[in-house]
Amino acid sequence: MLIWQLLDSALVPGDGAELCLHQRGDEFSITVDGYELMNSRVHHSEEVLAEITCQKIAGHKQPRVLIGGLGMGFTLASALQNLPSDAEVVVAELVPAVVVWNRQLLGQLAGFPLLDRRVTVCEGDVALLLREEYKSFDAIILDVDNGPEGLTQEDNNWLYTVSGLSVSYSSLKPGGILSVWSAFRNAVFTRRLKRVGFAVEEVQARARNSKKGAKHNIWLAKSRI
Ligand SMILES: C[S@@+](CC[C@H](N)C(=O)[O-])C[C@H]1O[C@@H](n2cnc3c(N)ncnc32)[C@H](O)[C@@H]1O
Repeated sequence: MLIWQLLDSALVPGDGAELCLHQRGDEFSITVDGYELMNSRVHHSEEVLAEITCQKIAGHKQPRVLIGGLGMGFTLASALQNLPSDAEVVVAELVPAVVVWNRQLLGQLAGFPLLDRRVTVCEGDVALLLREEYKSFDAIILDVDNGPEGLTQEDNNWLYTVSGLSVSYSSLKPGGILSVWSAFRNAVFTRRLKRVGFAVEEVQARARNSKKGAKHNIWLAKSRI
């Protein structure tokens, strides 16, 4: 029987939670304080997240896309597959070790997307980056936690508040898309997006690329033109 082996660990800047990278055969897992945040066998909805977001901005010239955070790189790889050659993709990742893991141990999982010349990595909180940018992104893709509820890192709560969503709205170009991944549906959050001014669509995507099993929720929120 294969057993999990700890490959590396790192502290999350700010709240000091412990992020661990484990491997069992060809399977990888990232945990936060013992809770599984990502598993390399389950990434279909993370790919759909980028695919449907990029479809929404098809036709935008030289699209600029922000992805927060990197995880195992599946959302990033899917975005790169669905964006033109003149796109720019900024990836904000809070934990520097995650970037190192993606350049080394995890890179093969999603085809080493960090090597793509369209990608720039910003090590730090996506919230800080959002506050610095104004009408700058064609799309913002957020998958930093479990979604608006069930947070593993309390510091991420702000991103899902009216204040955080308003800052995302301001960072988008008119007609831009904020897409948010979540493990759960959340009617309160849908109403909040609308309150901020977004036109909102929701999509459910299977966790695995199969007809059965858990579904995750994706909000596609469009800013006014
Ligand atoms: C669930 S994983 C993302 C999975 C990713 N979509 C994929 O396809 O592999 C969440 C990632 O967001 C990072 N993260 C958490 N909070 C963040 C923040 N405030 N800013 C930037 N990255 C953050 C975590 O360190 C982790 O790498």
